[in-house]
Amino acid sequence: MKKLFLTMAAIVLVLPMVAQPKLTKDNIDEVLAAMTLEEKATLVVGSGWGSMIGGITGGSQILVSGAAGTTQAIPRLGIPNTVLADGPAGLRINPTRPGTNQTFYCTGFPVGTAIASSWDVELVENMTKAMGNEVLEYGVDVLLAPGMNIHRNPLCGRNFEYFSEDPVLSGNISAAYVKGVQSNGVGVSIKHYAGNNQETNRNENDAQVSKRALREIYLKNFEISVRESDPWTVMSSYNKINGKYTQQSYDLLTSALRNDWGFSGIVMTDWGSKDGTVDAVKAGNDLMEPGMPFETQRIIEAVNNGTLDIKDLDRNVRRMLEYIVRTPRFKGYKYSDKPDLKAHAKAARAAATESMVLLKNNDNVLPLEGVKNIALFGATSIDFVAGGTGSGNVNKAYVVNMEQGLENAGFKLDPVLKDFYKKYVDFAKINPKDLPLGGSDMILLGEAKVEEAEMAKSYIEARVAGNDMAIVVIGRNSGEGADRTVENDFDLSATERALLTNVCNAFHLAGKKVVVVLNIGGVIETASWKAMPDAILLAWQPGQEGGDAVADVLTGKVNPSGKLPMTFPVQFTDHRSSFNFPLGNEPRGGNDFAAMIGMGGGRQPVNHVDYTKYEEDIWVGYRYFDTFGKEVSYPFGFGLSYTTFDYSKPTVTVAKDGSIIAKVIVTNTGKVAGKEAVGLYVSAPAGGLEKPAKELKAFAKTKLLAPGESQVLSFSVDAYGLASFNEQANRWETAAGTYTFGFGRNVSDIPVTFKAAIKNAQTFSVSE
Ligand code: BGC
Repeated sequence: MKKLFLTMAAIVLVLPMVAQPKLTKDNIDEVLAAMTLEEKATLVVGSGWGSMIGGITGGSQILVSGAAGTTQAIPRLGIPNTVLADGPAGLRINPTRPGTNQTFYCTGFPVGTAIASSWDVELVENMTKAMGNEVLEYGVDVLLAPGMNIHRNPLCGRNFEYFSEDPVLSGNISAAYVKGVQSNGVGVSIKHYAGNNQETNRNENDAQVSKRALREIYLKNFEISVRESDPWTVMSSYNKINGKYTQQSYDLLTSALRNDWGFSGIVMTDWGSKDGTVDAVKAGNDLMEPGMPFETQRIIEAVNNGTLDIKDLDRNVRRMLEYIVRTPRFKGYKYSDKPDLKAHAKAARAAATESMVLLKNNDNVLPLEGVKNIALFGATSIDFVAGGTGSGNVNKAYVVNMEQGLENAGFKLDPVLKDFYKKYVDFAKINPKDLPLGGSDMILLGEAKVEEAEMAKSYIEARVAGNDMAIVVIGRNSGEGADRTVENDFDLSATERALLTNVCNAFHLAGKKVVVVLNIGGVIETASWKAMPDAILLAWQPGQEGGDAVADVLTGKVNPSGKLPMTFPVQFTDHRSSFNFPLGNEPRGGNDFAAMIGMGGGRQPVNHVDYTKYEEDIWVGYRYFDTFGKEVSYPFGFGLSYTTFDYSKPTVTVAKDGSIIAKVIVTNTGKVAGKEAVGLYVSAPAGGLEKPAKELKAFAKTKLLAPGESQVLSFSVDAYGLASFNEQANRWETAAGTYTFGFGRNVSDIPVTFKAAIKNAQTFSVSE
């Protein structure tokens, strides 16, 4: 007691002598100079799991219930906590709070893969403006989004959160996303930087990837986003790349991110601590999230024993202060807790409709005409999947399912089927068989999907007479903590296949049409069954307004204009990466996660494999299929419309600095208004580095073109954008010679091309 009293007396005596400036945006140096080592080490470590506040200085009040974390406050210096919350498809916070009847629902927007399918940066920016407003109005400072890892393989359980197999599409969609959210004066955290292309063993996995593939594929999208949109924060991934945890890699976090691309914000870790906190500080990982007291301790000790230079810590602390002064919480923004959810629901519906991809439309069966009575099949028609599970889940007030969407649009649904599926889904939810999801902890953050119901052939046949047509909804869900499997996710189940076959046979026999709606988050097998139905609409996981959005497209209220942001292969094993992707019986990230957050009890990993060889190198997605002439089910960029478009008058002009401007005229040659997304696919001259046959270098989308209307689409690419990475020379190289610029509907359908010469070869160095 006496000792405590003496210590307190010492503090009272010492503190008045230390300058106590209060943080403003103009006195960061002064505040930094006034900080004690303990305070510095506190500021670079979050307050702990959940949305708690505190640390060495704070109280115990929860700032925003359900947020993923907070940074710590130092009231003495006027440094507030800031709040960080997930996630990519909308803000994830708790919808209810003790002691109040008020609700705090957020809008469930279409998932990342869906919005990338729009190929429309304006649309994405508008949608995320609405999303960012919820971040601001619910008192959050940083949205932990977008997720933007490359779709290396269709089985990655989090692909739904991510955008594409192509870095240019991914990077530009991300930039638009970031601009939209940040226009509200809140920040984002683009994630997971980098190489987090699988969930299996995600905490420890070592992504073994060549320098070239890393630069051209797995970092390129982050590079584009950083250069184009200035995100406030970047989240380093859990995994290692080439033997080093990304959070401890100076090459990644400082050389590439800051020195080469000009990033000026903060880097935070993904949620969990690793050994090597001090290495993370040195590498330029500014913030440890969610933060553990022992991390603070490690930093203090390392400075005291000389293994961490205080300059490195100061550098990170300065960046933290620069971040904090930008936040609404620092500025004292009075948030309403009442964002305009109605207006945002409209933005979600618009984005969902523009993101759907029409894969098949025989005899123009869509848009539906003269149809009143519909036999709606599939458990997913009720158990509709708005978005995936895990931290990408959003606590939304409702989900408009397919049944409601079609009824809202005026269709009459078969009452027998309605009744059947309602009872089946209610029952299945109470008695889940085998939840096709990851670690059980992650199911808490979203719902498991019920399996398809078995239905007798005769039962299906009895539904034909009373209906004009049939719709079969096929659904998939997946999420954080586990990868998908070929058997349970990629392939149709035997029950789904039987349902589809029996519905198609029964309805076709009576001359009635069948439309399949795919409510999925990632690529599935389509080659073996796509001949059966008359039309296939890929709705993705379209957010809370999904059912209405599907109806908008089926009725033609909106003409579909989405295009695939990835390839649909014939078989899973056609992907080169399939031979180096963990399949089956592998440890699940969910278990690691449970252990990591101290929930314990996770099953022990089996067949532990802690690396993934990216042997396919740069041959990811269409780069492989297109270059090696491998048949696919649907190529990258594929998507039909209710109208047709003609491409004409391509031109490419090359400026002195080697940058190009490409133009093409797109004309609506059909009978209804529509939009068309066009990819600029570039084939480089032979010689020099081996390159894919074509690479997407830019893309653009028309406005809504009336029949007969034309628009000039313009694409610009600088010489650096045309370069490939030479790993021997450790630099980017743009070869001289004649390039072919293809204006493509998709990677396999390039109606017009233009050849243009780049006179001078150019090189671009990287720091390392
Ligand atoms: C996920 C991140 C997420 C974080 C906070 C992690 O498990 O990988 O994407 O932002 O949790 O919820």
